[in-house]
Amino acid sequence: MLQKPKGTLDILPDQSRIFDKVEKLLCSKAEEYGFGRIRIPTFEYSELYKRGVGQSSDIVQKEMYSFFDNDGRNLTLRPEGTAGVVRAVIENALVNESMPLSLYYLISCFRYEMPQAGRSREFYQFGAEVFGADIPSCDADVMRMVSDMLSSLGVKASLEINSIGCRHCRPKYHKALRDYFGKFRDQLCPTCLERLETNPLRILDCKSPICKGIAADAPRTVDHLCAPCREHFEGVCGCLDAAGISYTVNPRIVRGLDYYQRTVFEFISGDIGAQSTVCGGGRYNGLVEELGGPDLSGVGFAMGLTRIILALKAAGVTADETPPDICLASMGEAASKRAFVLAGELRERGVRVMFDQVGRSLKAQMKFADKKNARFVAVIGDSELENGRITLKSMKGEENREVSLDAEGIALAVKKA
Ligand code: HAM
Repeated sequence: MLQKPKGTLDILPDQSRIFDKVEKLLCSKAEEYGFGRIRIPTFEYSELYKRGVGQSSDIVQKEMYSFFDNDGRNLTLRPEGTAGVVRAVIENALVNESMPLSLYYLISCFRYEMPQAGRSREFYQFGAEVFGADIPSCDADVMRMVSDMLSSLGVKASLEINSIGCRHCRPKYHKALRDYFGKFRDQLCPTCLERLETNPLRILDCKSPICKGIAADAPRTVDHLCAPCREHFEGVCGCLDAAGISYTVNPRIVRGLDYYQRTVFEFISGDIGAQSTVCGGGRYNGLVEELGGPDLSGVGFAMGLTRIILALKAAGVTADETPPDICLASMGEAASKRAFVLAGELRERGVRVMFDQVGRSLKAQMKFADKKNARFVAVIGDSELENGRITLKSMKGEENREVSLDAEGIALAVKKA
């Protein structure tokens, strides 16, 4: 039997309904905050992610689904949304719009990672990006939006923030990290030994217990910020304090993508196991320029929808199927045809209707109506066709009604009941 590829998900109707609910709420919140939706391609030239997400990131080093198309172009299935959004902003001259430019997206992403609960190779993100707003309150507003979204959904998550400095102060910090981790060369894992040369910041993110232990006493970014970065970070904390948004400063948050500068943050859920980051984001001033645009600042985030759904499930949230208003049961060919026509006419009048499409016995049709949780069931047989009257039998303890066998009469009775 053919099976889905490792790390992909079949999202069946019961779960899809929760997805729909979550996506609807996130989109309408984003619109409330003044964001506009952007849709970007599922694949881009590989070069975009190499330059955007960065050569030293795990994504570019080992997680991209890259391929050559028939014309020999090197393409990659998008591993995240920010690089594609930045490319679209530059390519469509949105950089000339009045700022800030606030965009959101709902996308599937692809990363070759080891699948486990909350981590898959194809996954879904809701993300948002704000361009051209560089003051601390913008960073804080983005976090406030996530916080608002999560609490509206009923997901409990704590906010952890950090600043990883800018291209001016980071070289000094990298040197402090190299000096520190250099003393532990013989204990670091092979990946971190490589990171020591390419991007020592990423050692702070290593999951190996030995590297983690060594990293516990490593120099902290917040102690190595230049004056403007420190001022910015203090400003962000001040805004969060003023807005009553609780957070902790976690100097170990560095994020896995190379484009971040200054503020980085994560929302962590305690209810969903090892893959507990439901949202990650931060500031990425410099990325627009790196990808060929003007010097335009950026800050944003992305939520992993599968992890949000896991958190909602842990909280016992379900989304029920909308039951039909009426099931039309029928006996005989003429009645079956009448049920088919009537179903169309009733739908035109906004009635949710089902009719027998598999040729079940009357008893089985009644059972099906019960299973589907219908409000009414109505049987069309020879006598109903002859008399032009039909009885709507309530399945929910409401009054039964006899009405004329036409869409007008049935729709009116269903709506009145
Ligand atoms: P990220 O931290 O790589 O950031 O991903 C954001 C979120 O996507 C994670 O917090 C997690 O919830 C979810 N996620 C990531 N990988 C997987 C996976 N394999 N399976 C399931 N869920 C996953 C970004 O992608 C940045 N573009 C976020 C951003 C936007 N920063 C600024 N703007």
